[in-house]
Amino acid sequence: MSSQSTAAIAEALSEARERTLALVEPLDDGRLNRVYSPILSPLAWDLGHIANFEELWLVQRVGGREPLRGELGRFYDAIENPRKIRGELPILRDAELRSYMADVRERTLDVLEGVDIGPDVEDPLLRDGFVYEMLLAHELQHNETMLQLLQLVDGYELPATVRSSSRYAGASAFGGEEMVAIGAGEHEIGAPERGFAYDNERSRHSVELTAFEIDRTPVSNGAYISFMEETGAEPPLYWGRGGDEWVDTARGRRVPIDPGHPVIHVSWDQADAFARWAGKRLPTEFEWEAARPQLDGLGHVWEWTSSDFLPYPGFQAFPYREYSEVFFGDEYKVLRGGSWATHPRVARPTFRNWDLPQRSQIFAGLRCARDA
Ligand SMILES: [Fe+2]
Repeated sequence: MSSQSTAAIAEALSEARERTLALVEPLDDGRLNRVYSPILSPLAWDLGHIANFEELWLVQRVGGREPLRGELGRFYDAIENPRKIRGELPILRDAELRSYMADVRERTLDVLEGVDIGPDVEDPLLRDGFVYEMLLAHELQHNETMLQLLQLVDGYELPATVRSSSRYAGASAFGGEEMVAIGAGEHEIGAPERGFAYDNERSRHSVELTAFEIDRTPVSNGAYISFMEETGAEPPLYWGRGGDEWVDTARGRRVPIDPGHPVIHVSWDQADAFARWAGKRLPTEFEWEAARPQLDGLGHVWEWTSSDFLPYPGFQAFPYREYSEVFFGDEYKVLRGGSWATHPRVARPTFRNWDLPQRSQIFAGLRCARDA
């Protein structure tokens, strides 16, 4: 990779950091340190974790340098420290946190200047700049979990950088009954060998699908309200009553629910129940990926699939087991697509997100499928 590519990485790192800092810019230290929910980290933990992960990979691993703050890293290990205890850890806070982030970044850029990230480099971590792409994706993905937490902060306004870099569009019409037919046949699933992707997106392999149909657009609020009215199902997270109508109460607002927008903040359990009520089912993740080029309304909500988060044939953990492998099994369900809070750099056709079936803090909706 040329020095121009190194410059492009530096530029992308800086853009990601601007986005991260813009998210927390309106908040005082009290709010950054506050625990809002046992299933979401305090924002100060996310910030320190973003910087510590960067130090671990781009400064210590690539640059061979010693840690800046001794043993601090263990409090930012996501597996060792479950979300519900993160508010009590002796993590960096306030001015100390901000200066740590800046110190790490300075060292990262220093190391980047002397590193070879060409296509022929032997170390797979550096080849084609993999580790830098991984770190960019990591920071941008944490932006989305931070936005999940920010839904709980009264009066919080989304910064312009997030609105403009996301594909949030307020006024599309959703919820038509139209379905797209996909014929039976072989479909290539997963990421190609070259180019950045996570270990769980490989190996690319062929899957035989029987004919099916899938909704052209995600399920709308209006359709979900009909489902609730007929079955007594629970509303999505953050919905409240405002007189006769439903209102969105996220971020302390009371905005009327637009029946034409895609439903968001539903759990897998809710999504699955909706699909059954509609006489349909959730698509498998392979059906979703095979149909994706023909789908409208992508990039508004993550879309639940019926699939468990399992390894593809030939899976090899890279660069560490804790990214994917420890989550494989029937406990987690796969989501595909990407939401308004997902940076376009993160969303790819082969990207696999996952969460527990009862969780609704993520920006998730659904579209339905059925056998043809
Ligand atoms: Fe992380």
